[in-house]
Amino acid sequence: MTFIVAIDGPAAAGKGTISKAVAAEFGLAHLDTGLLYRAVGFKVMSGADPIAAANALNPLDLEHDDLRTANVAQFASQVAVIPEVRSALVNFQRSFATQASGAVLDGRDIGTVICPDADIKLFVTASPEVRANRRFQELSAKGAKTTYEKVLNEVVERDMRDSTRSDAPMRAAAEAIVIDTSELTIESAIQTACDLIRSKQSA
Ligand code: C5P
Repeated sequence: MTFIVAIDGPAAAGKGTISKAVAAEFGLAHLDTGLLYRAVGFKVMSGADPIAAANALNPLDLEHDDLRTANVAQFASQVAVIPEVRSALVNFQRSFATQASGAVLDGRDIGTVICPDADIKLFVTASPEVRANRRFQELSAKGAKTTYEKVLNEVVERDMRDSTRSDAPMRAAAEAIVIDTSELTIESAIQTACDLIRSKQSA
């Protein structure tokens, strides 16, 4: 039987890092589902129709180098509001989730919509200020010219759009375990997630 870990939460809460570490620790495949929306947003930035872009999405599109920028994130969150874009991406995510090795998927609606029967659901969050500061440090280290205030505004705007859209809004599933990383080191956040998964596996 496959083992599915669903990890949801807002931007820069640490869910990507935790998901990668969990996948490595338990030998599971990992899908960062935000990349699907980013790849669609990226195509829309160059003039494509969002629904056509989502329907034509190809796994190679996820490997594009420029998907991680703040600008692409805003386009991703705008296309993610469109129900037809979301439904075009469902099958890819569900097939990934049910592969024999088991899988970790991280995103906004994994525990609520994509994998409602996941074996364990985590919701990784942190205060907007902590998340904006982390994202600002990351962007600055890469040489991006931005300010903390600008990054905070982008984080808050994206959280608002993601959590208030009518189709698959970002929220913790009823049975999700919340991990607030505001005051945790990344090592202890990973440790917390791994301990929760281990206890679920042995239950
Ligand atoms: O996780 P990441 O920040 O890369 O996601 C980019 C955007 O894609 C999010 O702000 C959200 O609008 C959208 N998204 C989504 N559902 C997911 C994953 C991402 O709506 N499962």
